[in-house]
Amino acid sequence: MASSPQKRTFPSRPQIPANVHSYLQVAPRVNIAILESAGSLGGTWSEDRVYSGLRTHNALGGLEVSDLEMEQRGTTDEGYVRGEDVTYYLYLLAKKFDLHRRIRYHCTVETIRKADDGERWELHLRNPTSSRVFCRKLIVASGLTSRPFIPGVPISGESVIPTFHSIELKKKEDFLRSDKVERVVVYGGSKSGFDAVYLAASSGKHVDWVIRTTGQGVGVRSICTPIQYCHC
Ligand SMILES: Cc1cc2nc3c(=O)[nH]c(=O)nc-3n(C[C@H](O)[C@H](O)[C@H](O)COP(=O)(O)OP(=O)(O)OC[C@H]3O[C@@H](n4cnc5c(N)ncnc54)[C@H](O)[C@@H]3O)c2cc1C
Ligand SMILES: NC(=O)c1ccc[n+]([C@@H]2O[C@H](COP(=O)([O-])OP(=O)(O)OC[C@H]3O[C@@H](n4cnc5c(N)ncnc54)[C@H](OP(=O)(O)O)[C@@H]3O)[C@@H](O)[C@H]2O)c1
Repeated sequence: MASSPQKRTFPSRPQIPANVHSYLQVAPRVNIAILESAGSLGGTWSEDRVYSGLRTHNALGGLEVSDLEMEQRGTTDEGYVRGEDVTYYLYLLAKKFDLHRRIRYHCTVETIRKADDGERWELHLRNPTSSRVFCRKLIVASGLTSRPFIPGVPISGESVIPTFHSIELKKKEDFLRSDKVERVVVYGGSKSGFDAVYLAASSGKHVDWVIRTTGQGVGVRSICTPIQYCHC
């Protein structure tokens, strides 16, 4: 779908609500189902993933579709939109454009193939039993960051260290901030790594941050406090 020149479009804004609401404008009577593997709306910005203190790197106006302005709910001191405000915005967007009733949660698309009639798409779902749906038009908006990648890191020693991916920061937030944790190792020098380091360090934890030996990475560029490199 082409967007008109006066529309603001941001390639990294959440795709599903934006695409569906645009499509319904040109085809209001079409029967659209939004198949969502998670249990809440918003992907990266769902309430299941946004932990307290997560902020976007966008100023107000930078993460919205042109048909619904993001409410003035304040920003961080530096002028960034807060994560929880994106969650709320997506909820309002879905409400305004009647998307909530179209979403099927806990519905994972496992495979997509051309159906035997050669015209439709055939989707195999896990929801939680398996089933199939057929459609003539398909928008895939499964995100670039919705599946965690955990490199195999051999952990030696007797004690088992709690290990999790940054996608689980919301789920593990209370534990991470608790007195049970004194020291945290963050593996990976990019933006999620930076946010994890910030969350742990601002909760008073000693943080060891494992990054490339060159120090290269988004997180390192954006850090504004002195950093000690330890090449090991
Ligand atoms: C922590 C974090 C912070 C970010 N901050 C910013 C920022 O500040 N500014 C910015 O511009 N970008 C940011 N990004 C980039 C981010 O990817 C975009 O903001 C945006 O949310 C991406 O939207 P999306 O719809 O493409 O993907 P997602 O938000 O990942 O949504 C994809 C959806 O597809 C669902 N899904 C995936 N696979 C399946 C399947 N097989 N079956 C059914 N459903 C499935 C997922 O559950 C998810 O709900 C951030 C990314 C992360 C991870
Ligand atoms: N609050 C925010 O605004 C925010 C927060 C998180 C993410 N984002 C956005 O989301 C997108 C994804 O960012 P991301 O940080 O989640 O992921 P990413 O940019 O893909 O970074 C992945 C990190 O994992 C490391 N890594 C990958 N494979 C590795 C391996 N085998 N061994 C060791 N390290 C390995 C990489 O190290 P190397 O760099 O050394 O390769 C990199 O630091 C970006 O667009 C980002 O801007 C935004």
